[in-house]
Amino acid sequence: MKNAAIYPGSFDPLTNGHLDILERAAQMFDHIVVTIAVNNQKKGVFTGDEREALLREAIQGKEWSDKIEIQQFTGLLINYARKRGIHVLLRGVRQISDFEYEFRMALTNRRLAPEIDTLFLMPDEQLTFISATIVKEVAAWGGDLSSFVPDHVAKALQKKFRNGEVI
Ligand code: PNS
Repeated sequence: MKNAAIYPGSFDPLTNGHLDILERAAQMFDHIVVTIAVNNQKKGVFTGDEREALLREAIQGKEWSDKIEIQQFTGLLINYARKRGIHVLLRGVRQISDFEYEFRMALTNRRLAPEIDTLFLMPDEQLTFISATIVKEVAAWGGDLSSFVPDHVAKALQKKFRNGEVI
């Protein structure tokens, strides 16, 4: 598929950082498949279906939303990319500390599938400290999530925790 890319991640949950990357990518590609990994080793707070629903709601009404396809996937990313005939994987890099993991993942994927490349995008610098992990930590203790995630994600997060525990 020409001028298409895959934006993979756990999206547990989607943050404003993810949305920023997606918006930037939508200026560069005609079609972006957001793939929600539901079988990686990280145990999610949200189910695959919940993450998908949060993503769908987040892009609703965006002028670029018709470029976005959202799918859950299990297995190796490069197999999914090959099946779809897509040769670009998009990843957001916030800080140097992200780079080591991203570099290992990108080169592993390239060794497995030399025809597929990883393209790194930087989010707005105001968003570089936001991560789904930190957002969950703030949510667990009832902190204000309004500058980290869209409103509907904040509401969903608030329902997931009580006194620091997932309910
Ligand atoms: O949002 P995340 O958790 O940083 O995303 C990581 C993800 C989902 C992109 C990565 O774990 C992945 O691609 N998983 C699918 C399995 C796979 O292909 N692994 C090989 C890459 S090293």
